[in-house]
Amino acid sequence: MRIVFATGNAGKMREIRDILADVDAEVYSLKDLGLKSEAPETGESFAENARIKVMEIYDILKDRDEMKDTIIMADDSGLCIDYLDGAPGVHSARFMGHDTDYKIKNAAILEKLEGVADEERGAGFVCHISAVTEDGTVYDAEGEMRGRIASEPKGKEGFGYDPIFFLPEFNRTSGELSEEEKNKISHRGKVLRMMKEILYKKGIISFK
Ligand code: IMP
Repeated sequence: MRIVFATGNAGKMREIRDILADVDAEVYSLKDLGLKSEAPETGESFAENARIKVMEIYDILKDRDEMKDTIIMADDSGLCIDYLDGAPGVHSARFMGHDTDYKIKNAAILEKLEGVADEERGAGFVCHISAVTEDGTVYDAEGEMRGRIASEPKGKEGFGYDPIFFLPEFNRTSGELSEEEKNKISHRGKVLRMMKEILYKKGIISFK
């Protein structure tokens, strides 16, 4: 069995390999297969975008007759802020422009929430993972890591919105957590563990 995770992000890939280490399968990134994801993330939901990503790679491997004993997975994630009705949500990467520095994006979010009390600053990092098997069946899992928007950016770990995502139980932002600490509680980790359970119960994967 082999699992191909459709991401070009090396940090994500480290976390994914770690979580899939107990699965009886070889884990490959797109880079390992010499592939690149080019599908536009035009979906209106995390689920739609994850499905677009996973089906793009499925179509390529199916065409090459390389789907035997293969599962392809892809994720889509983003920051959903309660006070902003779930924004930036599916537009998290594109918010204020794809290449805009996160220092600027984070400062803009803090400004939008200026004067808003802690109780109303709730937010979640949401992740959706889709997996497609050899016969084209798609499995889905979605979950989130809850926290709130900090009053100021803190921490140099992680990426993106991590410096403004405050986790009350750690009394730190996710930008102040080590990679190991964040992987234990992250939205992606949580959902990938859910996906392992789903595929195991369906008899599609087994554990080492
Ligand atoms: P994608 O799932 O790779 O398309 O990522 C979507 C966007 O959501 C990223 O570019 C970040 O802006 C944001 N995001 C998703 N997960 C995280 C996280 O763990 N920390 C910080 N930002 C995140």
